[in-house]
Amino acid sequence: MTREVSVGRADELAPGERKLVFVDGRSIVLFNIEGQLHAIDNSCPHNGASLASGPLEGCMVRCPAHGLRFDVRSGCMPGAGGLKVTTFPVRTAQGKLLVSVMETPAPSQA
Ligand code: FES
Repeated sequence: MTREVSVGRADELAPGERKLVFVDGRSIVLFNIEGQLHAIDNSCPHNGASLASGPLEGCMVRCPAHGLRFDVRSGCMPGAGGLKVTTFPVRTAQGKLLVSVMETPAPSQA
């Protein structure tokens, strides 16, 4: 089950900008690329480096640690196969930036 979380004002993320947010202890990077919003996990699936400061080439973010590239629209590396970074639905509504995240199940009472 997913839920939408407000992570700031819509006007905080102009085209060409990015924003690092924290939701439920998870670090998520938002990108505005030519007016389209995208959100990915800030942890590189290769070895966990932060992707927030990675150079952007079109829709591809390059991991600053070892240079792997991920498409922020799909989370996939170029070509077939490879690692995939988690993506999150993101939109604006009523002046807010909204990210959808999976609900974390409550720990069971044993
Ligand atoms: S940690 Fe990102 S490419 Fe190695």
